Amino acid sequence: MAQKITVSVIKADVGGFVGHSDVHPALLNRARELMSAAIEQGLLVDAYVTHAGDDINLIMTHRRGPDNPDIHQLAWDTFVACTAVAKDLKLYGAGQDLLTDAFSGNIRGMGPGAAEMELTERDSEPIVVFMADKTEPGAWNWPLYKMFADPFNTAGLVIDPKMHKGFRFEVHDLIDKKRVVFDAPEEIYDLLVLIGSPGRFCIKSVYSRTTDEIGAVSSTERLSMIAGRYVGKDDPVMIVRSQSGFPAIGEVLEPFAMPHLVAGWMRGSHNGPLMPVSVAQATPTRFDGPPRVVALGFQLAGGRLVGPQDFFADIAFDEARRTALQMANYLRRLGPFEPHRLPLDEMEYTTLPHVMERLESRFEPLQPIRTEL
Ligand code: F6R
Ligand code: MG
Ligand code: MG
Repeated sequence: MAQKITVSVIKADVGGFVGHSDVHPALLNRARELMSAAIEQGLLVDAYVTHAGDDINLIMTHRRGPDNPDIHQLAWDTFVACTAVAKDLKLYGAGQDLLTDAFSGNIRGMGPGAAEMELTERDSEPIVVFMADKTEPGAWNWPLYKMFADPFNTAGLVIDPKMHKGFRFEVHDLIDKKRVVFDAPEEIYDLLVLIGSPGRFCIKSVYSRTTDEIGAVSSTERLSMIAGRYVGKDDPVMIVRSQSGFPAIGEVLEPFAMPHLVAGWMRGSHNGPLMPVSVAQATPTRFDGPPRVVALGFQLAGGRLVGPQDFFADIAFDEARRTALQMANYLRRLGPFEPHRLPLDEMEYTTLPHVMERLESRFEPLQPIRTEL
């Protein structure tokens, strides 16, 4: 039996260059040094360091399975080392996503986001790592549904006998901390009731119903719920397997040709289009946005990351970018009005409590129009 390999994508914002727009090359270099050392020690099989906006992404392969304390420690130590560089350069928000001083074995719930997948490498194993900036984990719900459940996006659901039975979706309720599993296509209406509300329900993982193999996994941490206050958006990542029983690369990327609206953008408080971009274009400047998504393709070869292929650099996504910018123009004209600004209950960690506190004594009860019927 072939050896299993784990792909761990762990990300954090530990300092922006300039403001919240980008990562300084000195931080990426520091991260690369530590990843190389871990490969030499044999802890990692391979690693690739990149960024989406102001978030550092560590794409790592190893043999230790998800939630491994040594791998999480390595990621944590790398972010701590990058924070030191960020502090030296006085970069913006140095160490912002490291919410605790005492690391205790698992990075989940400590600020950084993680998507991890253990798999048995197929004869050829194409994967796509998605990384977003200025948005939240629920941003993956719409594209994951399109990839794995919508035959108008994914022709393979109709045509490929290995996909025809559909896929299984694991959905997390981030507020009540519960999970539920749905089979598509039979249960898509129930599934959509939940995932159509991405501020609360997030698709955590997707499995093939033909092979039971994992097809996708996302990071579902919500920083504000960890910290109890606004500390930036979560800027999620996800890993998707492709081809031979999973959606083809073109089916995996196709949902992003339609920039859907996601929560995040300026001050984590606005709806905006998710704009597909290359790594070089992942520097949100327009009103700190619009929110960006990068897609890097790799072929796994015994755990080695052969790549990346920077998919959204393709001119085929130029039109999506143009659409996203037109949507951005329209939404920006609404200024502080919903639905550009997020609804009030989404802003409970930011402005709302302060304003309500100050205005409390000025509120007077309304006279009832009729006291009895
Ligand atoms: C959004 C984000 C930025 C900041 C904004 C204000 O996720 O990180 O839009 O919220 O630049 O930042 P501060 O409050 O640090 O000045
Ligand atoms: Mg930031
Ligand atoms: Mg960010």
